[in-house]
Amino acid sequence: MSDSPIRDAATKSIYERGLEEAARAGWAVIAGTIEGMCGFVDQSEHYSTTKARTTDNVISELRPTGSESAAPRSLSKIHGSKALPLHTDGAHLPEPPKYVVLESGSEVTDDVSETFVARANPLFTGRSERADWSNGIFLVDGGAQNLFYASAYSGHYVRFDPGCMTPADARARRVCRLVRGTEPDYVHRWGDPGKLLILDNHHVLHGRAGASDAPHRVLRRVLVSQETR
Ligand SMILES: [Fe+2]
Repeated sequence: MSDSPIRDAATKSIYERGLEEAARAGWAVIAGTIEGMCGFVDQSEHYSTTKARTTDNVISELRPTGSESAAPRSLSKIHGSKALPLHTDGAHLPEPPKYVVLESGSEVTDDVSETFVARANPLFTGRSERADWSNGIFLVDGGAQNLFYASAYSGHYVRFDPGCMTPADARARRVCRLVRGTEPDYVHRWGDPGKLLILDNHHVLHGRAGASDAPHRVLRRVLVSQETR
């Protein structure tokens, strides 16, 4: 792997193709590094990195966190190091980031619990389900007294995180029940180092297996937004 992937046209195209593949299929697994992805994004006119919280670094480290020390309104606050239910990242932001890019940061990759991925679109192909996702009202707690109402589907992207979104009507409660009963379409096992998992955060949900037995689990994450062309 090049130390300067942004100057390496072949490597650059790997990251661009990975993002495009995730947009097409819902997720993509590519060979690469998270620094390489950031380098590509920094040089791109079409993509930019974003942060879930202003105090985060561009590359954030995700570790199993007990509920007592977890951030407010986070899923870890509710579930601790148990399994994290299906959700999208950045649901508290005005527009959630298009992509979530994950890399194992654990030296012992066998110790990294799986990431679950489920396509959201099949959950609202029916007319009544689509009405629930489009019109059900959630109260979103974005922190710092930033409260707003939103649906789980904007027409362009999915927003769903039971950590910061409270259902405010029967339609929204049905969306929650539907997601709770959803099986993943893909289970990513982190045994293969040097790989990135790219999720289309606008169209797929993701979750985490229980990490109580994986105290050293570390994932590194960067959030990528796509500029409107
Ligand atoms: Fe997440």
